[in-house]
Amino acid sequence: MKKFFGVIALIALSFYSIAQNKYAIIPKPTQLVQTAGSFVVTAQTKILIPRNNPDLRPLAEMLAERFLITSSMTLNIEEFDLTGFAPANTKAIIFMPLSPKSGDKTLGEEDYTLKVEANSVVMSASTAKGEFYALQSLLQLLPTEIYSSSAANGVKWSIPNCSIYDRPQFGYRGLMLDVSRHFFPVSFIKKYIDLLALHKMNTFHWHLTDDQGWRIEIKKYPKLTEIGSKRKESMEGHFTDQRFDGKPYGGFYTQEQISEVVKYAQKKFVNVIPEIEMPGHAMAALAAYPELGCSKGPYEVGVKWGVYDDVFCPTEQTFSFLEDVLTEVIALFPSNYVHIGGDECPKVSWKNSPFCQELMKKEGLKDEHELQSYFIKRIDKFLTSKGKKMIGWDEILEGGISPNATIMSWRGIEGGIEAVKQNHDAIMTPGSHCYLDAYQSDPSSEPVAIGGFLPLEKVYSYNPIPAGITAEQAKHILGVQGNVWTEYIATPSHAEYMVFPRASALAEVGWTANNAKDYKDFTTRLKTHFERLRFLAVNYSNAYYDVSASSSVNAKSQVAVKLKTADNGAVIRYTIDGTEPTASSLVYQPTGVIVTKDATVRATAFTDKGQKLGKDMSKYYYINKSTGRKYTLASQPTKYLGGETYGLTNGVKGEAGNLDTWVGFEGKNLDVTIDLGQVMNLQTVSFAFLRAKSSWIMLPREVEVLVSEDGKKFTSAKKMPLGNLEGEEKVVQQLSVGIDGKKGRFVKVIAQNYGKLPDNHPGKGSPAWLFVDEIGVD
Ligand code: ACM
Repeated sequence: MKKFFGVIALIALSFYSIAQNKYAIIPKPTQLVQTAGSFVVTAQTKILIPRNNPDLRPLAEMLAERFLITSSMTLNIEEFDLTGFAPANTKAIIFMPLSPKSGDKTLGEEDYTLKVEANSVVMSASTAKGEFYALQSLLQLLPTEIYSSSAANGVKWSIPNCSIYDRPQFGYRGLMLDVSRHFFPVSFIKKYIDLLALHKMNTFHWHLTDDQGWRIEIKKYPKLTEIGSKRKESMEGHFTDQRFDGKPYGGFYTQEQISEVVKYAQKKFVNVIPEIEMPGHAMAALAAYPELGCSKGPYEVGVKWGVYDDVFCPTEQTFSFLEDVLTEVIALFPSNYVHIGGDECPKVSWKNSPFCQELMKKEGLKDEHELQSYFIKRIDKFLTSKGKKMIGWDEILEGGISPNATIMSWRGIEGGIEAVKQNHDAIMTPGSHCYLDAYQSDPSSEPVAIGGFLPLEKVYSYNPIPAGITAEQAKHILGVQGNVWTEYIATPSHAEYMVFPRASALAEVGWTANNAKDYKDFTTRLKTHFERLRFLAVNYSNAYYDVSASSSVNAKSQVAVKLKTADNGAVIRYTIDGTEPTASSLVYQPTGVIVTKDATVRATAFTDKGQKLGKDMSKYYYINKSTGRKYTLASQPTKYLGGETYGLTNGVKGEAGNLDTWVGFEGKNLDVTIDLGQVMNLQTVSFAFLRAKSSWIMLPREVEVLVSEDGKKFTSAKKMPLGNLEGEEKVVQQLSVGIDGKKGRFVKVIAQNYGKLPDNHPGKGSPAWLFVDEIGVD
């Protein structure tokens, strides 16, 4: 018997990779038992729903519609009587309602079971929402063509047999979309909601107002949209470029459109939480109604990204306004929750306002943080009186948390921890793992993004339950959400690119128990999921396949380049002559690529059949006498190390678009001495400085190059001031200093920091940064 079992196990193993893809459900179900055989859907297959059940009919219709579109089969929807009904041998797909208690397993609101056998498919749940999630799993067991928008020919519509019991880990599984920085049409909002539902996510957080645009019609205050929904221009490129496009921009949703979206979302069991930002991020509202700001304006709708000093003034007029706005918002959104923002509210305008200072005295508030808390508590009280619950970003903890507040933890996980320790609910959205506006691959190969680096695997690794809280406190962690801020995302297709597949990973973070997650297994399912997204015309990112390069310098001063792609099955091919890699280029070997003279390494991942997967990676390596040489610094860099300890001589130059590739000194001079190992003739010393004014990075005032044979006595080879100190925003200043065959073993470069930022700079008086990279000696 034992022997026999071993043989079965072997056979099962050999089919493993195929079997895996048949059950490619994302998010991964709690329990899935695979069994042999399959249920094949034909034109004769019926869809059965219980008699007089208006909740389940729409689900049956959704399923029938999929088959009609993709196979032209019209599956009949028939009703059955619950009493005495036996599903076996019905040749049907059955929506079976259960009372909340079923057998020995209690099925909660979102739980379901799904049993696929050769002669029946049964979806059981105690609510229509649970049945809807069963349906999502069923669709993912079908061939991916079920998601097509037109007839898919020659498909055998088989569903692999299995038995699933499924329930989510967290009750809150959300995705946010910022429609203020860029406006997204209703058609896209609906597609976004469809994609949430596909991933069993249940909350769409709609960020409707911000400095750069007010996007929701409020009947009592028409100027909010007449004035507040329009800005005179937008930023172009990255914030650090400080460029503007000169083109008016605007858009808003009518109340009718809002209702249409909410109704649409309800059909997909997605709750829509509106966010109305206060007291900060209010420029658009202030531009429309300047009397609501402390200085009374005039204000203009924000054209720059970032945070503005002007915010709502906590006057009675402002509270009446906000209560009126929220009253209209509440009437439009059935959601229990209303999000009131609360993040990034500078206190400058309150500090300068006699009214605020007087109010603080009168209310016994000791500082502006307590004034913020006073503000939020009043709004909380109002929302509570209307039967609603308030959500705010974690700054609302400052100055004392409001009694009924739920905290959305974004600046890290600390806000969430603090909230649950005070017995408040928290939703986890830390920037480190949940900000889907960050880069997902090498910035030099990606569309401009806000910054950061959040690859798929890191999103997937997130555990919303922080370490160090009790089981009781953990119950207050409601769940997790992906945030999609759109300063750098102007179109639906770009939004899709940033959000997927990272939101697919986040869906699994929210649904699947942390200890049941497995990244490798996820990526196997993801490949099937990519096909679904393709059928749904989602412009998902293939960054998962992108090749990344890391390098180190060996003892022979050669650069050893290691290439990597996240996918195990992919083959990396590369060139070092600058040409595009093809299916016949060299196959990368794990020993690395050794670069012995200046070269561009280009690499791409391919399938084993030669089909291109991710993007083409390209990196230039600069090999010279200083490459791999150690150096000493009179003062150490701050935060920016250029990637490694000897970042100045690692063969990789700093890139304008990626601050992390530079060596940065805050308020300090560069004073570096490189040891070339032996005395030699020296011709030139080269280096580059970066200026990015809005990031407080300025060119040095003066540079000096010195040489020495013994490392003690240095002679100056060249000393020169840098011109163009106040020039345009961003520049990479490449310099090459001729030193005419002087002999030396040690090369010293001293660059004098710009010093304090000038009066016309927002950071005036603060120390400037000096950014330098790759000191070459030839
Ligand atoms: C935020 O990212 N300011 C919540």
